[in-house]
Amino acid sequence: PVIRLKNYTPPAYTITHVDMDVSLAAEDTVVTTTMKVVRQAGTPTSAPLVLDGDELSLDGLWINGDKADDANYSTTPVELKIHRLPETAAFDVTIRTRLAPVKNTKLMGLYQSSGVFCTQCEAEGFRRITYFLDRPDVLAVYKVRLEADKATCPILLANGNPGEAGELPDGRHFAVWHDPHPKPSYLFAMVGGDLDVLSDTFTTASGRHVDLNIYVETGKAAQAAYAMDALKRSMVWDELEYGCEYDLEVFNIVAVSDFNMGAMENKGLNVFNDKYVLADADLATDADFANIEAIIAHEYFHNWTGNRITCRDWFQLCLKEGLTVYRDQEFSADQRSRAVQRIQQVRWLKSGQFPEDAGPLAHPVRPSAYKEINNFYTATVYQKGAELVRMIATLIGPEAYRAGTDLYFERHDGEAAVVEDFLKCFEDAAGVDLSQFARWYEQAGTPNVDVEEEWDAGSCKYTLVLRQHTPPTPGQQSKKLVPIPVRFGLMGSDGSDIEPRTRSSAVKDDVIVLTRRETKVTFTGLKTKPTPSLLRGFSAPVKLNFAETQASRLFRAEHDSDLFNRWEALDGYGLSLLSDDATGGSSFTEKDREAFVLALCKTALDDSIEPQFRANALSLPNEMAVARNIGKNVDPAIVQQSRSALLKSIGRQLGKRGLDLMTKLDTDPNADDLAASGERALKYSLLPFLLVSGVEGAHNLAQSQFVQAKTMTDRMGALSAIVHFSGDEVMSEQCLEAFYDRYEDNDLVLNTWFTLQAMVPNAAGLERFERLLDHPKFSLNNPNRARSLLGPFAANNPTAFYANGAKGATLFAQQIMTLDDKNPQIAARLLTVISSYRVFKAPISDAVTEALRTIRAKEPLSIDVQEIVDSLLS
Ligand code: ARG
Ligand code: ZN
Repeated sequence: PVIRLKNYTPPAYTITHVDMDVSLAAEDTVVTTTMKVVRQAGTPTSAPLVLDGDELSLDGLWINGDKADDANYSTTPVELKIHRLPETAAFDVTIRTRLAPVKNTKLMGLYQSSGVFCTQCEAEGFRRITYFLDRPDVLAVYKVRLEADKATCPILLANGNPGEAGELPDGRHFAVWHDPHPKPSYLFAMVGGDLDVLSDTFTTASGRHVDLNIYVETGKAAQAAYAMDALKRSMVWDELEYGCEYDLEVFNIVAVSDFNMGAMENKGLNVFNDKYVLADADLATDADFANIEAIIAHEYFHNWTGNRITCRDWFQLCLKEGLTVYRDQEFSADQRSRAVQRIQQVRWLKSGQFPEDAGPLAHPVRPSAYKEINNFYTATVYQKGAELVRMIATLIGPEAYRAGTDLYFERHDGEAAVVEDFLKCFEDAAGVDLSQFARWYEQAGTPNVDVEEEWDAGSCKYTLVLRQHTPPTPGQQSKKLVPIPVRFGLMGSDGSDIEPRTRSSAVKDDVIVLTRRETKVTFTGLKTKPTPSLLRGFSAPVKLNFAETQASRLFRAEHDSDLFNRWEALDGYGLSLLSDDATGGSSFTEKDREAFVLALCKTALDDSIEPQFRANALSLPNEMAVARNIGKNVDPAIVQQSRSALLKSIGRQLGKRGLDLMTKLDTDPNADDLAASGERALKYSLLPFLLVSGVEGAHNLAQSQFVQAKTMTDRMGALSAIVHFSGDEVMSEQCLEAFYDRYEDNDLVLNTWFTLQAMVPNAAGLERFERLLDHPKFSLNNPNRARSLLGPFAANNPTAFYANGAKGATLFAQQIMTLDDKNPQIAARLLTVISSYRVFKAPISDAVTEALRTIRAKEPLSIDVQEIVDSLLS
């Protein structure tokens, strides 16, 4: 069935209090839940109470404490309907269910991960624990009493503050938890297991003492130190930047090894994929550290944006996710290099969200219909959703933005809100009209902004003409105009910014706001034709089409005062060059090519620029980015050839200077030292170029870096360069083996070993992939492991995936079908990574269509996968 936003109706009954008694056992957990049900005004007493379930069976039912009469209710695995109810406005319903967490392979509801009982309830997992009004607009106060075997489950946790705890007969014990803040069921959590803990404390701005605990697998508490540090910094930042303080006596985090997503913001009890908690310099790369910081912050920030103010229904998901991603992005920008953070965010947006918006899975930031809500935890809802909040901040300015969020917290605290409520707060706080802006939430597709410039030398007038249009997306043929803030600067011939003079009402400070189809802005008082720098800081999630000369691109790459745009100039140049090359085009001369190589090398070797920026400049658009940019009839082999040829030219140009720089960047082994991590990033972005172009000494340097590695970043940086760029099979195998021997028993590290090999190109890569599917350590049961091999192979390794008549697609489809029976959510999500398959030429893309049809014909097929396959085939 399709769920539609326009069909939303408020619940006929609500639940205000929930009292749960849970006796944990792997095969037979008993859950007894008493809920205070309140009939809503306007609901007739004859209206049945319809509760949601999912794979449940009812073990007992009591109304106001009396055993319910069989004639008064009916039940199925997905529903409990109580026909006859007390006439009073409020009454108690008690439900008993029995669960087998050890058999729960979907990892939704209550399950076991390495023997630890844990829960995942967002979006609709609570209904796998008990029958309930499992919808986010039903907010209740929860009290939970957990009981378990003390030897195997010494730790018992639930939301809120701890209460009574004690011993029970037969080696069992119990603990009571009470959460005073009304919350929707998706924020419910409980955990039971044998875990180690890293503890700390925090005092909020108003003096509240908070105990902080991070629970991890035994023996790993020290690996939670960085996460703890990130948590404390997040707590300070939210107080300063948003005036948001923590509101319970404890904040608990539990890391588990089997988890469908990154992490979950359950009130007072965040549950994390351990990948985003555990780290030390020997086990995690600098990128892992950055991810941990961002996700710890993200989940913590949800305490206000998501938990205190939640969503009325799942169509409003971006209300909490887009806003919270924007908040975690700004946190990371404040903790690290703002420009580099922005570059990485935009990279991610362009590689993950733009393709979604341009392909068969396109949907608005606020979708209007879905079959399975888990399929809508997408780059569009999260990343584009964050861009929308960023645009609001750009359009109204930082003070008004803060006033708007203050008003939002004041006005909607304790409520389940909608996107309109959020926008209204900025309208009221800033005195602006955001009705046109609201279209951004309704409309799928990436708007295009076409730019033309005119220079009138006689009158010294410079004019920019900007036109917007959004291409049609599935189910949305015609598009409306949206407001697009284009941050800009005009650069003079020395590269510095000119103070722009214009009378245009579309220009506010350094932003041109496009509200119409065409916006013309004329600048006066110029001596020579300026070079425009547009969309600085990527001020809007749009595709900018500007027929800029290559020379002007390079001028911007060297001089733009906006560091983001300096990167963008190089990246855009590289993308056009590679696309032109791979399609036999003639837009770039040999000279243009040389100029690009020189500019890139100059940036790489320029010690006045921060190393992490230089590393980003060096990471050329990958094969999929080029393929998507070309857009049709792509032959992956040709894209690969163009890219390797360019890598070689750059490597030759870097030559000995590149090697010397690498050697000089002998960095501090501390993984949380930001300066050192920037230098490491630069170091390992240089290495591939030096290896492919055979720079003398590079081969030995790579090997010694691997052997003497002081951090995981060094070890992985060297290993990946060796495997992908050295061309030395023997050395590659030896290093892979050495790595395996060292980390065989560390699941998180071993995932990276799978990922690295999933990226080996061509027929050899396909063969390797096939072998790895049979590797004793490969398993579809652990989501991280399944993703580590299947994800990169299908998403980013086209020469292997499409080798031998796209055999990779067939193998991939088989895995998806097996996974569908265990964990449909992961199966569906993995399947989305091939959504750009249609850009490839006919025989190979047809093979994907075939593979998709095979999946479609599987029986039974989950709704999750069915919804994705249908879109991919449409
Ligand atoms: N709310 C979580 C986060 O973004 C995501 C959990 C989604 N889980 C799911 N099964 N859909 O922080
Ligand atoms: Zn989130």
